[in-house]
Amino acid sequence: MKILVLNGPNLNLLGKREPEIYGSASFEDCFSGLKEKFDTVELEYFQSNYEGALIDKLHEVGFSYDGIVLNAGAYTHTSVAIADAIKGIKTPVVEVHISNVHQREEFRHKSFLSAVCTGVILGFGLKSYELAIQSFVD
Ligand code: DQA
Repeated sequence: MKILVLNGPNLNLLGKREPEIYGSASFEDCFSGLKEKFDTVELEYFQSNYEGALIDKLHEVGFSYDGIVLNAGAYTHTSVAIADAIKGIKTPVVEVHISNVHQREEFRHKSFLSAVCTGVILGFGLKSYELAIQSFVD
């Protein structure tokens, strides 16, 4: 089973960025833990701060991988283009957020992606990624 974990803008700063919201662990550490936990899954990680690069990656893997775990960061709340890319591919996508966006500013309550994703997991810190991968394994 092949799963891509795809992170959007500013998620390269995890561990340094607003630790009171996103925690103090880097995503690289989190990803090592995920690879250990899901050692029978082929897990790949890609991060970009550019909307087009995220769309290119969705197109690249979206007809052959078994699942995509997507934290599109702030593009979640703005990007019709990422929603269209998800609609256009075959691989199911689970939307993930580290924080509970519904407890935060109003503009974070709207997601352009939720309606075109298989499911949404949010608010469990970095464990949200693990729960999303688990949903594909199950
Ligand atoms: C986030 C929530 C978004 O609103 C924010 O822009 C992020 C991270 C999260 O994981 O909680 O960059 O997607």
